[in-house]
Amino acid sequence: MSSQTGPDENVSDENLPAAQEEAHGAQVAKSDPFADPGLPPHEHRIQDIDERAAKRSERTVAFLFTLSMLATVGFIASFVAFPIDKIVYVWPLGRVSALNLALGLTLGVALFCIGAGAVHWARTLMSDEEMVDERHPIAAPPEVREKVISDFKQGAKESALGRRKLIRNTMFGAVALVPLSGVVLLRDLGPLPKDKLRHTAWAKGKLLVNENTNEPLRPEDIAVGSLTFAKPEGLEEDDHDFQKEIAKAALMIVRLEPNDIKDKRELDWSHEGIVAFSKICTHVGCPVSLYEQQTHHVLCPCHQSTFDLADGARVLFGPAGHPLPQLNISVNKDGYLEAQGDFAEPVGPAFWERG
Ligand code: FES
Repeated sequence: MSSQTGPDENVSDENLPAAQEEAHGAQVAKSDPFADPGLPPHEHRIQDIDERAAKRSERTVAFLFTLSMLATVGFIASFVAFPIDKIVYVWPLGRVSALNLALGLTLGVALFCIGAGAVHWARTLMSDEEMVDERHPIAAPPEVREKVISDFKQGAKESALGRRKLIRNTMFGAVALVPLSGVVLLRDLGPLPKDKLRHTAWAKGKLLVNENTNEPLRPEDIAVGSLTFAKPEGLEEDDHDFQKEIAKAALMIVRLEPNDIKDKRELDWSHEGIVAFSKICTHVGCPVSLYEQQTHHVLCPCHQSTFDLADGARVLFGPAGHPLPQLNISVNKDGYLEAQGDFAEPVGPAFWERG
């Protein structure tokens, strides 16, 4: 049932059937004879004049709410059914956790259906009454405006701003220049980092040097199951920017059985099962260091992010959002391990990838 009220009159419900009957005869009502002539004619919704249309809307709303209930049941079932480490390939997202995908989809559908059901209910079945409320004037009464203007003139006269031009001009100059101090201070923010944060000291041909012995590494120095930390050749502890550079370039090297390596790119970038990954955790940058030989898992001690070194260092657990970046390595003609270039993606916290 719908009605229309103007500023000066209210239309009672007894008057409506006459209007609705007339509108029904003309398929869909286009005007309301009781409407205020100053307002555009009220258009009745099909649901207001056709009980079958109203029933259809009711069923649509009930269907959406039922779908939401089913999606919530699906959410709970997904939580129980999917193992935490099951990965599926979904275009265009790539490799994603099946559990996260199922939880996200079901929760999304459940919330969307509640919202869509409520909107459809409000638009088609709830009251369609149009209201008009007069807007009060925003401007102050003339006597108040006159008082403000006369007070302002009086203040300007007492300050003698118009007469003392020297004071007025120097005051405007002082007020205009003060903000410049803040602009100059911006220089103290330092030079822009440009793309320095995206690159490390690794480059094609740089030898992998043992961080403890300072000796270049050969494949035979890396035993199966051991964890070795390395730095790029030429980066010495007494360099003034050593800390800054090692914080990005620190490397961890393990030797796996080549057959155990599941990720194709990881295998291509390895040498006889020797793989090199960034040691900087992709959560907030702690050094990852706890290696579990049997499972090939490596653990960050700060917040327990766990990475699978046999599967592209993907995240198995914890808050890290990305796998550890891998360094492409090979052996040079003298038999030493060397880098084939810099890391292919920024190391450390995912923040830099969004910059
Ligand atoms: S820094 Fe590694 S889990 Fe937080």
